[in-house]
Amino acid sequence: MIRKANQKDVPFIHKILAENGREGRLLARPLSDIYEYLRDFVVAQDKDGRLVGVCALHFCWESLSEVRSLAVLPEDQGQGWGKKLVESCLSESVARGFDQIFILTYIPDFFNKIGFKKTSKKQLPNKIWADCVKCVNFPDCTETAMLLEL
Ligand SMILES: CC(C)(COP(=O)(O)OP(=O)(O)OC[C@H]1O[C@@H](n2cnc3c(N)ncnc32)[C@H](O)[C@@H]1OP(=O)(O)O)[C@@H](O)C(=O)NCCC(=O)NCCS
Repeated sequence: MIRKANQKDVPFIHKILAENGREGRLLARPLSDIYEYLRDFVVAQDKDGRLVGVCALHFCWESLSEVRSLAVLPEDQGQGWGKKLVESCLSESVARGFDQIFILTYIPDFFNKIGFKKTSKKQLPNKIWADCVKCVNFPDCTETAMLLEL
């Protein structure tokens, strides 16, 4: 199942994002950030109660939201968890009245399967660069910006 994250999930979230961050697949997030933004996070839990993945939804600006921090444990990939995690963020975005959702990603083909289309980073509001300037890769970002109309 996919459910909202709680405080006990923080060590798992921190570890899986750190491991993927080291491989350059996404941006790792400090513990303080995960606690502060815990309401953004959902986790995937298998039938034995084991945590297998995480994803975050961030409300950005006007009608625009963002998918962040998506990761599934290597041994649990390929079973639909990643897609379900993203879809839960899409549902919450709609429920909260947002019309568009974007992602900055190195794996556009995965998000294309869910309905995201490539867009220009220039189409995204200036506000998102407040986070980008904190990124270790700024200003040489090679991620693809993708947008989905909800
Ligand atoms: C990306 C990731 C979350 C996908 O999780 P997953 O649980 O394996 O994905 P799913 O099983 O839900 O796959 C859904 C579909 O996407 C496809 N897919 C999975 N990973 C893909 C990739 N890297 N590129 C393209 N397509 C991919 C699957 O084949 C599947 O296709 P289908 O519906 O035609 O069968 C996982 O590979 C991961 O944690 N990667 C490392 C971290 C990362 O790159 N995060 C993304 C940051 S933006």
